[in-house]
Amino acid sequence: MAVEQTLILLKPDTLQRGLIGQVIGRLEARGLQLNGCKMMHLDKSKCDEHYAHLIGKPFYPGLVSFMTSAPIVALAVSGPEAVKVVRDMCGPTNARNAMPGTIRGDFSLSTQYNVIHASDSLETAKKEVARFFKKEELFAWERMMDKMTASPDEKK
Ligand code: PPS
Repeated sequence: MAVEQTLILLKPDTLQRGLIGQVIGRLEARGLQLNGCKMMHLDKSKCDEHYAHLIGKPFYPGLVSFMTSAPIVALAVSGPEAVKVVRDMCGPTNARNAMPGTIRGDFSLSTQYNVIHASDSLETAKKEVARFFKKEELFAWERMMDKMTASPDEKK
């Protein structure tokens, strides 16, 4: 099992609803390590880049309007199989289908105001981390508790 890094965006609804700390707390409690964290206000061109595969969908103008309505918090987190682990923690895009215990299942009722974006594959994660973080904004650091988050074999 490999240590992976993935990209998370805490969307404007998360900031507006005062849920940023609770969501980051869940990621930390799971054992994921924070490598990058920054607040930013997206503009349309960044949305067009990030959501290029969705341009043309009927909901796209509304998605841009929402994502540019207030700042977001971008996170780069790492851990064993972090891409899948984080996606599973989020639950499905439509939060009404998300199980209790997932972030969307506990905090959202919406497909658009669904609290969190997370990379959907390792390949996407590499591109998305680079889209939101410069190299010097990412920190590799040794965390004492990492000895307890998974066995050494799981972190190769
Ligand atoms: S899709 O439809 O299969 O391409 O969906 P997905 O790749 O999961 O990403 C969709 C992102 O667009 C946001 N969004 C909506 N999706 C579907 N339907 C509606 N009406 C809609 N409105 C907004 C959705 O929150 C996904 O955002 P991210 O940031 O990727 O989670």
